[in-house]
Amino acid sequence: MHFVGLAPLASAVANAGGLGMITALTLKTPELLAREIARCKELTDRPFGVNLTFLPAFKEPPYPEYIAAIVEGGIKAVETAGRSPEKYLPALKAAGIKVIHKCTSVRHSLKAQKIGCDAVSVDGFECGGHPGEDDVPNFILLPRAAEELSIPFVASGGMADGRSLVAALALGADGINMGTRFIATKEAPVHDNVKQALVNATELDTRLIMRGLRNTERVLNNAGVERVLEIERQKGDKLAISDIFEQVAGIYPSVMIDGRVDAGAWSCGMVAGLIHDVPSVKELVERIMAQAEKLIRTRLEGMLA
Ligand SMILES: Cc1cc2nc3c(=O)[nH]c(=O)nc-3n(C[C@H](O)[C@H](O)[C@H](O)COP(=O)(O)O)c2cc1C
Repeated sequence: MHFVGLAPLASAVANAGGLGMITALTLKTPELLAREIARCKELTDRPFGVNLTFLPAFKEPPYPEYIAAIVEGGIKAVETAGRSPEKYLPALKAAGIKVIHKCTSVRHSLKAQKIGCDAVSVDGFECGGHPGEDDVPNFILLPRAAEELSIPFVASGGMADGRSLVAALALGADGINMGTRFIATKEAPVHDNVKQALVNATELDTRLIMRGLRNTERVLNNAGVERVLEIERQKGDKLAISDIFEQVAGIYPSVMIDGRVDAGAWSCGMVAGLIHDVPSVKELVERIMAQAEKLIRTRLEGMLA
């Protein structure tokens, strides 16, 4: 998660028994990524991973150099996203790195499996960030992925608690990936206003922007987002990214660091409606596991009885 997936959160997730992720592109250069990996290793002796997002960009980031930093940092799991990681798989595989590709459709998941990814993260329509253009929510997408895939997959989008975990397992996933929920934790290195905005938000408070550009993003609604939607309505199919540049480009530091939560568009999932507090990562993960166990032992066992 851009400007969230840094060493404090990645290490806290790793220490709680999850696979924490550092967001490579938040670090402006491969050298800074190498330093962030080293910082994370000082905070945990558990494994953690790195997310490498392939964005539509005017100037492509130096991906081979980022991969070199990942390899030299001894990272063993990389989450790729945005577009097919095919071009970079040989370099990652040669270093013994497991590649989890994030996909928003069965079609892309099958492609990821075919090109040799080790696992996929299946991101349903409710997810924060980029849900793709098919609009299939996880109650359909996950069992469809289970029908088709032979590699493991985690359920992503809308995951918040033990109920999400048990449901995801029932739908065929092998685990869950949480984005928005982890932002509202004590260790997330973002301004308190961001955490509070998530606690205050309901499941009705996200909006989809950039549909017309086929680069749909689910974001938390605010005045900047209303403005984007207004411009989108006015421009119709003539919309260009330059029309909404002010509300979408370079917003993350203002929001995440300065706490200006109305500065513009920032990713947020519908799961905000299920976020009511700001626990530590350890408390959150333990609560999820305890709730999942209770659900399995009482509600599900009870059904059999
Ligand atoms: C603030 C924020 C920033 C994100 N940045 C990225 C990113 O840079 N790369 C990426 O692959 N996914 C990014 N995502 C998506 C998450 O990795 C994850 O797929 C998504 O949040 C899952 O849905 P959920 O928010 O309902 O848990 C971001 C999500 C949020 C909320």
